[in-house]
Amino acid sequence: MGLFNDKVIIITGASEGIGRALALKLAAHKCRLVISGRNMQRLQSLSSELTDLGCEAIVHVADIANQTECTGLVEVCVEHYGRLDILINNAGMTMWSRFDELEDLSVLSQIMQVNYLGPAYLTHAAIPYLKQTQGQIVAVASLTGMTGVPTRSGYAASKHAVIGFFDSLRIELSDDNVAVTVICPDFVVTQTHKRALNAQGKPLGETPMQESKIMTAEECAQMMLPVIAKRQRLLVTSLRGRVGRWFKIIAPGLIDKIARRAIDSGR
Ligand SMILES: NC(=O)c1ccc[n+]([C@@H]2O[C@H](COP(=O)([O-])OP(=O)(O)OC[C@H]3O[C@@H](n4cnc5c(N)ncnc54)[C@H](OP(=O)(O)O)[C@@H]3O)[C@@H](O)[C@H]2O)c1
Repeated sequence: MGLFNDKVIIITGASEGIGRALALKLAAHKCRLVISGRNMQRLQSLSSELTDLGCEAIVHVADIANQTECTGLVEVCVEHYGRLDILINNAGMTMWSRFDELEDLSVLSQIMQVNYLGPAYLTHAAIPYLKQTQGQIVAVASLTGMTGVPTRSGYAASKHAVIGFFDSLRIELSDDNVAVTVICPDFVVTQTHKRALNAQGKPLGETPMQESKIMTAEECAQMMLPVIAKRQRLLVTSLRGRVGRWFKIIAPGLIDKIARRAIDSGR
């Protein structure tokens, strides 16, 4: 994992969950970080923890739904460190409502803006610098980017968009030796489930997940590290996800049933 030595890395969505856990794991690898999100207080608290671990990190508040703020994030990184090696597009949000019960359709555009357009804006601003360093783009998508999931239609659409977008960029950027890594986590214990937008477009407030039965953010981050270090193209974090990709070709109805059961049981 010496591959991270001295690398300059932007992590979006670092104030919570998987992004936060990943920043703390990376701290052990002598890289230099830009940690971003909207919650300054939580980012500063993470920054102190990173400093205690001997990791250099700067905090930059940005709403990735805003293109100007995305450009600003990349500029701050390059002004401070003079380079960018890895952009980790991790920030995201989800929903929890059947589509035919959805009363506030702005849920769809909000999710698309944060999960798909935000990473596209950031990546566009970052590409010139990533070409200079022959760097890497990481996109935290989801298993829901590979198959349909009930109550998550808008989220599934955004994550399918993310995978299609970054798979396309991988081909475009291969001659520049810029790697593209897509991460597809299964369920992870984070704030995202409590923050999921309901039919009225409001956060659920409580998690519907069986949290003791699903992966922790630390476990997810631990699985991500070697995949990013080796510049691999894809990580699917669960066995059912890895096997399910193949079963979907021969028995798509079975995968639909598994997706329905996963949502019904919260695991
Ligand atoms: N947890 C799961 O089960 C799961 C499964 C598959 C994929 N994922 C994906 O993993 C990624 C990380 O999610 P998580 O589970 O760690 O969720 P989380 O605990 O809710 O964290 C989400 C992060 O995204 C940031 N964020 C949200 N909206 C933002 C915006 N408009 N601008 C900038 N930052 C924003 C939040 O920061 P602020 O609130 O400070 O802005 C927070 O740091 C997401 O892309 C998610 O879709 C999660």
